[in-house]
Amino acid sequence: MNRTFVAIKPDGVKRGLIGNIIRRIEHKGYKIVGLKMLQPTLEIAEQHYAEHKGKPFYQSLINYITSGPIVAMVVEGKNVIEGMRHMMGSTVPNDAQVGTIRADFAQTKECNTIHGSDCCESAEREINIYFKPEELCEGWKTMMEYVWESMPEES
Ligand code: RTP
Ligand code: MG
Repeated sequence: MNRTFVAIKPDGVKRGLIGNIIRRIEHKGYKIVGLKMLQPTLEIAEQHYAEHKGKPFYQSLINYITSGPIVAMVVEGKNVIEGMRHMMGSTVPNDAQVGTIRADFAQTKECNTIHGSDCCESAEREINIYFKPEELCEGWKTMMEYVWESMPEES
């Protein structure tokens, strides 16, 4: 089982999309093991998006991500990093596949509603920025896990 860091960005929270986005994640069968709403500080935003420091959009990105509360999540599932990125859609909403979160809810490259880690290393790094280990709820089963138990192993 893999895990990833997902955040509903300030535009998603302000527009009342928290429920819709969490519903999509739950309906996919992913397991949310960490969940909180927070107002990102400058320090947190700079740590999160450190890889983009020096790029032309960096300051605007930091202003955007600190402009309101976000909903931070740790999400588990099979190949969840790639799966969440598929559900989110491309960075530029007009390039995103119809039915993805960014295609359905966003219009601009910057205010694109949702973040998801892009690889295992990023996921672990980002989870550690936003969550302490004791804030994660593990050791329980989703319905999807009960279903898998009754299924033959995938070859
Ligand atoms: P994210 O990290 O937020 O999941 O997004 P991503 O991987 O799809 O895209 P990335 O290249 O990592 O960019 C991070 C976020 O920065 C904003 N951005 N603005 N104005 C611009 O040219 C520009 N480019 C990127 C977006 O909010 C993007 O999601
Ligand atoms: Mg990224």
